[in-house]
Amino acid sequence: MDWLRKLLKPGASPARTGMLDVRFARHVAALHHQGGFARGWEPGECAALIADPAVVTDGIFAGTDPHPCGFVLSRKAADEAEILSVVIARAHRREGLGRILLGAHLNQLARAGIRHVYLEVEDGNRPAEQLYRSLGFREVGRRQSYYAKSDGSRASAVTMRLDLA
Ligand SMILES: CC(C)(COP(=O)(O)OP(=O)(O)OC[C@H]1O[C@@H](n2cnc3c(N)ncnc32)[C@H](O)[C@@H]1OP(=O)(O)O)[C@@H](O)C(=O)NCCC(=O)NCCS
Repeated sequence: MDWLRKLLKPGASPARTGMLDVRFARHVAALHHQGGFARGWEPGECAALIADPAVVTDGIFAGTDPHPCGFVLSRKAADEAEILSVVIARAHRREGLGRILLGAHLNQLARAGIRHVYLEVEDGNRPAEQLYRSLGFREVGRRQSYYAKSDGSRASAVTMRLDLA
């Protein structure tokens, strides 16, 4: 896939993307724990999400590694989808993999008839916000004090939307 190679940063390991099945539930849980979220996902929860027919999954695999080094999960409803979570393993960040993974995922959503994609990102999560903006997402709202943080404080959520052609 030429468009995938063009998105890869020079020096980054070659990567492939593909849908995930329940065999990857514990990898998804481990990656989610690397996301720095206040509440981690457990393997059983990940398996239930992956098995849910309304949930669309994609993983990204670096080199010949059979296990994903990143994942994204969205939930579909009619012609809309909400991105539930996206994480790239710490060791592979800033290699261009997050953009490749989300690009592939948005393609998959578009092929499934999705026209509008929403997500919520913690205010101040600059890497994620920049990544979403670079793919065309725009802020459409804010929810004050939406996230409970592990230190007991609260952070606002920025709601973003992308209209797929
Ligand atoms: C957000 C995340 C998925 C990005 O993945 P990544 O593979 O490192 O991102 P990429 O290398 O593809 O970078 C794509 C763009 O994102 C932005 N970006 C990524 N990391 C960044 C950083 N540390 N600071 C600022 N911008 C950053 C940049 O715009 C970058 O484009 P550029 O390299 O041309 O400047 C990753 O940082 C992550 O897993 N974070 C923890 C989990 C998380 O916060 N998920 C989002 C929850 S809503």
